[in-house]
Amino acid sequence: MRPPILKSSPGYLFFGWRTGIMPFISPLKPTRLRSFSPATVPPQKTDVRLGKIVRVLSDHAMLAVSGTKIGEEIGTRRSEVWRLVQQLRSLGVAIEGHPATGYQLRRVPDLLLADILAPFLKGTVFRQIQHFYRIGSTNVAAMEAAAAGAAPEGSVFVSEEQTAGRGRGANRWHSARSAGIYCSVVLRPNLPPCDALLLSLAAGLAVQAAVRAIDGGVDPDLKWPNDVLLDDKKFCGILTEMHAEATRVRHVVIGIGINVNQEKFPEDLRELATSLRLATGKEWSRVELLGALLKSLDREYRDLIEKPNARESILRRFAAHSSYVRGKHVHIEENGGFEGVTEGLDARGFLQVRTPHGRRTVLSGTVRAQ
Ligand code: BTN
Repeated sequence: MRPPILKSSPGYLFFGWRTGIMPFISPLKPTRLRSFSPATVPPQKTDVRLGKIVRVLSDHAMLAVSGTKIGEEIGTRRSEVWRLVQQLRSLGVAIEGHPATGYQLRRVPDLLLADILAPFLKGTVFRQIQHFYRIGSTNVAAMEAAAAGAAPEGSVFVSEEQTAGRGRGANRWHSARSAGIYCSVVLRPNLPPCDALLLSLAAGLAVQAAVRAIDGGVDPDLKWPNDVLLDDKKFCGILTEMHAEATRVRHVVIGIGINVNQEKFPEDLRELATSLRLATGKEWSRVELLGALLKSLDREYRDLIEKPNARESILRRFAAHSSYVRGKHVHIEENGGFEGVTEGLDARGFLQVRTPHGRRTVLSGTVRAQ
């Protein structure tokens, strides 16, 4: 059975399964940004010194830290510290004080800055975090950087907002500013391309585990191949894309979108989408959740590349944690559409559906509960 091929170019095949400590959260004030159309919006790569300032201030949480001291710690001039502090304030970071008195952090901000995430990532494959305030799509940026040799294994692209977030098929991913997690990781596994589906299923398991690690009372469901649901509505989607030769993966990008603190959705998504906040009635720390997610994803990834029985384990756990894999009456939007009852996953991870005309294998179509 062929995996779904999106595009091809000489020499390579591009496959894609379009699968589609920080307890305080400060609501972000919108900043004034020039308006761009989604197609032309330039990515706003974050000045890493912003995260470093937040780190210095949180390391001295009870004290006012002088501009000179901050400047020394982050290797910049005192006047530049003032400018960067103003920039942080415009992003909603609660910093008190001024150059004469020094600066003090009121609350650790829930921004996904590299220096804030770094403590969560010790010992994992994830090391190089590229943070953007605004970007078209983290998946596009990650795929481009990976192809250009500018994104080693474990690179993480994360943005506060996406103007052209991509979902499965022709879908867009609604990516409101600082309400969700929009993140793409670059991996360079020594695996055959057919294992990318397993990696993608493992990413769904990692999201589920991360949510449970933060709140053991929340029990997300997995919908094959890559949706994560609460109350039968989607709060997370995963878009796995790769660049591969026929027998070997060159790089794979796993893009994960999680609706975290959204309080409402556009009309057309209202029936289908939810957020962790809407489903649980409380605000979640995106920093804590992304930290937990990257840790779980690291475990899944290491197991897959190192342990001989990891494939069976992923298939078994996915089936065990999904109400969709067995005995679910579904409609499949593939090849004109068909209906049936799900009958498990095959050895490669494809969904099996019993129809009146026999058993069918779902390769990439959207699954809907009947
Ligand atoms: C789906 O349709 O369910 C997949 C949605 C994937 C969305 C994420 S958000 C981060 C990454 N960047 C993108 O443009 N898409 C993925």
